[in-house]
Amino acid sequence: MFDIIKDKLKETKKIIFVTGAGISQESGIPTFRGKDGLWRKYDPMQLATIEAFYENPKLVWEWYEDRRGNILSAKPNPGHFAMAEIEKFKDVVVMTQNIDGLHQKAGSSKVLELHGSIIRIKCTSCDFEDDIITKFEEVPPKCLCGKILRPDVVWFGEPLPQKVWREAMIESSKCDIMIIAGTSLVVSPANTLPIYAKQNDAMLIEINPEETIMSSQMDLSIRDTSSNILPKLLTYIQSIQN
Ligand code: APR
Repeated sequence: MFDIIKDKLKETKKIIFVTGAGISQESGIPTFRGKDGLWRKYDPMQLATIEAFYENPKLVWEWYEDRRGNILSAKPNPGHFAMAEIEKFKDVVVMTQNIDGLHQKAGSSKVLELHGSIIRIKCTSCDFEDDIITKFEEVPPKCLCGKILRPDVVWFGEPLPQKVWREAMIESSKCDIMIIAGTSLVVSPANTLPIYAKQNDAMLIEINPEETIMSSQMDLSIRDTSSNILPKLLTYIQSIQN
């Protein structure tokens, strides 16, 4: 399956991964647009925008606390672990749209959280922020400064964290292999990263059981799950490196 990219895989020093909700699906975390996707059950405009948060912080917090409960008990799957293992053979940068922290839990050491983290909580007013892995007694939770706290995630209509986005663009525009796993590539600006890579003649590899809007632009598009394919990719890299 990987023989057509063998030479490139052998010579490259760095692999960039761009991941989305699909890579955590097998860890029990629902995707957004699949058949059981979150946006099929909930209206993102009611729950994942800054306006919705200020209009009804309790409702938004109840939804995030529910998601936090699931995510905090979730475990990385073989796809996450394989990606972390590949660091033994290549420089790896993981650019994830996920907010679940599973790449870090699996041992990936360089993770750019493009859409923030549901585990990191920040104040809506002062500069307090911290990873909080316990359930809140009451929602919306209050900061010591008296204002309400929020999850440090990027809501629709909000900008991505500038430092993280700048680094993601720089890495994408100088990489020679980008592996895109578990994302529908419908949300910008994350979906422009493969375009930056392509402009630099990078090889694009997609791992997704379904076709995406960018499948036709991939050098290799593997119709399978990330937890199935990434361990195979790890074995292949091990075999060509030795
Ligand atoms: N392995 C690989 N891919 C999978 C798997 C799997 N086991 N299961 C599902 N997928 C694929 C689906 O085919 C789909 O293309 O993962 C993709 C998930 O797409 P989305 O649900 O749109 O999730 P994502 O691309 O991460 O969404 C991007 O949208 O709502 C915002 O902020 C949210 O970060 C999210 C962004």
